[in-house]
Amino acid sequence: MINIAVLGYGTIGSGVVEVVEKNASSIAERAGDRIQVKYILDLKDFPEDPHAGLIVHDIDQILNDDDIKIVVETMGGTGAAYTFVKAALEKGKHVATSNKALVARYGAELMDIAKKANINFLFEASVGGGIPIIRTINSSLTADEIEEITGIMNGTTNYILTKMDNEGAPFDEVLKEAQELGYAEADPTDDVEGYDASRKIAILTSLVTGRHVDFEEIYTEGITKISQADMKYAAKLCRRVKLLATMKKIEDGYVAMVAPFMISDEHPLYNVHDVFNAIFVHGNVLDDAMFYGRGAGKLPTASAVVADVVDIAKHLHRSIHISWSSHKMDLLDQSKAVFRYLVRVDDSTGKDELKDILGEGQIVLVDGMPGEYGYLTAELSEGEMNEKYETIPGTKGRLRLA
Ligand code: HSE
Repeated sequence: MINIAVLGYGTIGSGVVEVVEKNASSIAERAGDRIQVKYILDLKDFPEDPHAGLIVHDIDQILNDDDIKIVVETMGGTGAAYTFVKAALEKGKHVATSNKALVARYGAELMDIAKKANINFLFEASVGGGIPIIRTINSSLTADEIEEITGIMNGTTNYILTKMDNEGAPFDEVLKEAQELGYAEADPTDDVEGYDASRKIAILTSLVTGRHVDFEEIYTEGITKISQADMKYAAKLCRRVKLLATMKKIEDGYVAMVAPFMISDEHPLYNVHDVFNAIFVHGNVLDDAMFYGRGAGKLPTASAVVADVVDIAKHLHRSIHISWSSHKMDLLDQSKAVFRYLVRVDDSTGKDELKDILGEGQIVLVDGMPGEYGYLTAELSEGEMNEKYETIPGTKGRLRLA
């Protein structure tokens, strides 16, 4: 019997307890031993809950119990979660977490502690919820140089963009509806401003490069400025607006960014709708692969956390090698990234003038958008585009193409 403790009895934590019980036999078969939840740490009591007897309020009860081999952290945030996880690792307990904020900020440090103690710190659920992407990069795609990862890594914003596209509704209205349905948080900043996705691409880029990527250095744009006008231009070009988190190898370095893009109907991410996530990977020998599924939610996320528990149970006396050192990865300047752009301008902007500034391109006219037009550019670097955009009169916005 392997005893575990779950820190945080919210949506994911209660999902972990449910999955451990629901699939107890198959999990025991795969783990080589039965997994049992011995404690659940939470500030609250849950008197009506069948697991009320497992609730404890003092972390020391868990830390000082030698029976607890694995700690599952599903509290979220980087406050108590960091303190408790670090203390658990220092006590020689393996940790599985779903907490992307913790992994993005402290992943390298926590992995280092785990490695030195010959134990494991696993975090499959921190990116893509139930989609097995971390283990895929760490254990499966090990023959490849990964040259690109591009994904829809945030379910809330994908739900909002899908609704805006399907229903012609404005951003604010759809966000409110998403909050009422419980998809978007009361404070949706992390999701709609792209910060959640930037933590996730930072985690994946750290795994690919083997060095710690600071998510705060990743260029990040959210979807708050996306309008129906953008959707109409995208439709005219047989494209859809999607929030992408992307990293690419350019020469000897990597660029990473999060931003809304108009993606082509030939792009593998074009048909990823609603709260679903998908992660496209290009390896130099694998070529293209894509991983699709539920990027959030109680049971899909718990599925990934419990899979980590099973992996730990199989490696109780060995640290699974994860190449992610605390050496910092300096990303290339984002101005080096190259895209095509759709630039929207006021009708008063001369087409020849626009061509002089942006180079050869294509005029795009959309029904129901009087007084303006779009200009589809050839490939330009972000640096070039930023400089040129400043000099264009009557601009109404621009979007990158993918
Ligand atoms: N807020 C996140 C999302 C939850 O919407 O995708 C999963 O990380």
